[in-house]
Amino acid sequence: MSNGRFSHLLRGVWLLWLWQAVFVAATGNKLWEVPTASFTSSFNLTGSLQWEPHCQYRHLQDRVRITADSPPRLDGTWVSTRCEVRPGPEFLTRSYTFHPSRHFQALQHYYSDSSCENPAYTLIIRGKVRLRQASWITRGGTEAEHHLSKVGIVVHSLAAKQRLASRLPTTCVGVTVGRLVPGKLFELYNTRAGRGCLTALGFSMMEMGLIRVETQHHSNGGKVQELFLGDIHTDWTQRTHYRPTGYQQPLQNTMHHIHPCPVCALVYRSTEHRPPVLPRSPTAPLSLRGRWVSQRCETRPTVLFLTRDFTFDPDQHAWEGLYRHYSDPACSQPTFTLRASGHYAQGNPSAKVLGASEFVFKVTQVKVTAVEEPTAKLLNGTRPGKCGRAGGWEVAVEQDLTPTDGCTALGIKLPHKEYELFKIELDHRKHPLLFIGERPSDGSSPDRPLRRPTSFQPPMVLCSGGEMHAMRRFELGFNSKQVQLAVSGTVRQTQLVLLVFGFALGSLFRVY
Ligand SMILES: *[C@@H]1O[C@H](CO)[C@@H](O)[C@H](O)[C@H]1NC(C)=O
Ligand SMILES: *[C@@H]1O[C@H](CO)[C@@H](O)[C@H](O)[C@H]1NC(C)=O
Repeated sequence: MSNGRFSHLLRGVWLLWLWQAVFVAATGNKLWEVPTASFTSSFNLTGSLQWEPHCQYRHLQDRVRITADSPPRLDGTWVSTRCEVRPGPEFLTRSYTFHPSRHFQALQHYYSDSSCENPAYTLIIRGKVRLRQASWITRGGTEAEHHLSKVGIVVHSLAAKQRLASRLPTTCVGVTVGRLVPGKLFELYNTRAGRGCLTALGFSMMEMGLIRVETQHHSNGGKVQELFLGDIHTDWTQRTHYRPTGYQQPLQNTMHHIHPCPVCALVYRSTEHRPPVLPRSPTAPLSLRGRWVSQRCETRPTVLFLTRDFTFDPDQHAWEGLYRHYSDPACSQPTFTLRASGHYAQGNPSAKVLGASEFVFKVTQVKVTAVEEPTAKLLNGTRPGKCGRAGGWEVAVEQDLTPTDGCTALGIKLPHKEYELFKIELDHRKHPLLFIGERPSDGSSPDRPLRRPTSFQPPMVLCSGGEMHAMRRFELGFNSKQVQLAVSGTVRQTQLVLLVFGFALGSLFRVY
């Protein structure tokens, strides 16, 4: 990072922040202060076809158009579509209602088990949310501020009360933990009181800091609306003050959700006194065989947009992963692709997340293709021996990073080992969904058993079952799962680079 090109980039980032600072200072506090052309229109993209032309999976049959309005319209009730897993792990379902007055009421039902069958306690959260401006960090997202007025708790069992008692300070606002009675509402927080109890619970609504609403328009005229709220930091000590730059799994609008969605109905009908008890989801054997792809353009904390495409061959314990990176939230402007491969071993069933299994992945090879000029130039400028063939980078020409043991500029070090958590669930159509461990929010890599994830990335769908030819065909094109594994450590640098190339030099300066 010490050569001229990189310092130029860093200067670019600094300029970007300066722009931001000036702009925010100049515009004051009104709603929607930054009406940039690139953010005010809803964009249009036709289905996932765009980034996965060869995968013949079912979703592609019905072409889906996706739009995202900016600023997003929040009115209505939005609910979980399955039992959600947060880092920790915590298991919960959510039902959030937004009123035109900008007041919201959020119900968070927490459970003691990973299938959300045993409710432990429910938080009822009231407050106000105010949309601020298009996010400068996460394109396509909107920054918002929230103000809490009340947080109440209802404990659903004596066992849950005991577990809470060990976490909470002995006195909280209006409630002595010893006196919590199952089924009765107690106030944990109000505007006159401090946040001691909330912090002890690891509670915050920082997720309201980043918001995006996507609408899928199906060819049959139906539509599905999804609310993306900011991600939860994977490190417990960071979560109450972390400003999100990625998203959690979306909630769906109760008026416009996928059908059938039995979980949506249960969550929608719930109250703080009657938490939803989810039916046990059918167990799916953990068979990785075949090819799995992202369902949508995925947003990673800090400026990464990508799609993933993995192939597993259990007979050889081999895997390949292809990460396609983009500079925009519709995944229409590719920047580079990362193809990684290696071996894996399945370990024990997870003791923390029932139904999930531990894995160890080894990354032995990573190949990178720059898809646009700025990325090619950037990689071309790295020092000899540090990132593939120095001076050999060209657009659309794949380079093997193995001879240089990775790429310092991209933060890839080879060989590399990662401790993983996988699970497979069935979706509403009984098709398998593969969940892979969430990456640490600080950009580090789960390279030790202690850092093994306890939560998951967005699920991937199986697009061809168990065919060996899929793997071979892959070798001709792009492939990689590793990309992300490998890149995660360096993500920061890469992101800076992308921020400048994909965003600042492009849209930002053009707009102004
Ligand atoms: C999006 O594309 C569809 C079909 O190509 C078109 O009918 C529609 O007007 C477009 N919408 C926007 C907002 O550009
Ligand atoms: C990469 O560097 C080589 C040698 O300096 C140069 O000939 C080539 O044009 C460069 N490629 C790009 C994409 O900048």
